[in-house]
Amino acid sequence: MPPPHRCCGTASPESSRRRPPVVHHDPVIPVLRTDRLVLRPLTPADAPALLVFRSDPVEQEHNDPPLRSLAEARALVERLAADHHAHGARHWGLVLRDEGGDEVVGLFGYDHWSRPHARAGIGYDLSRRLWGRGLASEAVVALLDHGFGEMGLNRVEAHTNAENAASVRMLRRLGFWQEGTFHEHFFENGAFHDVALFVLLRRDR
Ligand SMILES: CC(C)(COP(=O)(O)OP(=O)(O)OC[C@H]1O[C@@H](n2cnc3c(N)ncnc32)[C@H](O)[C@@H]1OP(=O)(O)O)[C@@H](O)C(=O)NCCC(=O)NCCS
Repeated sequence: MPPPHRCCGTASPESSRRRPPVVHHDPVIPVLRTDRLVLRPLTPADAPALLVFRSDPVEQEHNDPPLRSLAEARALVERLAADHHAHGARHWGLVLRDEGGDEVVGLFGYDHWSRPHARAGIGYDLSRRLWGRGLASEAVVALLDHGFGEMGLNRVEAHTNAENAASVRMLRRLGFWQEGTFHEHFFENGAFHDVALFVLLRRDR
């Protein structure tokens, strides 16, 4: 399976551009709860909130290109829903419990889920105002519990820009280990960049 362009996250699977989608009839994305967070399925009404953090060029430096309009945010929500129905991808909007509302401030999920081989890729993206509080780690642990539990995964992969220090540190601290590097895997801002492949196996936990 080829890695995404430059990171884990919400990139559309390569295969979706080549083959007709296989429908798995898997409409249910459960709500996940932690001490500080609720991870819930996205709805079209979340597009304006997604636009707030996914349009931040600093936040998106190592992730997908920043969103430029509400229309692009709506299209992202639609594509994630389509990927869910076609490929079993599961994406959650992150809501902070102590903020009391229901505004999505992060996007976390599984893409590239291969059921026969019990493996999937993980992606994560948190509003910049919330960085450095361990919130993304808390969310990823909830995703891993769900992935190795209900989804029956044996292997979780994370492709991350090797220069994304926060992402690399978080993955290592959660027990992921670096299986390899896609050297000079993408070209951006006048230079080639490496993508690191991190892995967590069921037996590693
Ligand atoms: C990666 C990301 C989700 C981390 O969110 P977070 O809530 O700040 O993460 P955590 O606090 O749980 O853990 C981050 C770790 O990286 C460390 N860190 C943060 N910035 C760092 C930096 N510039 N250099 C080195 N380490 C850094 C933190 O200290 C922390 O480690 P520690 O707990 O051992 O001290 C967040 O930075 C983000 O959303 N980035 C933009 C989107 C993105 O790049 N996604 C990944 C695509 S592959």
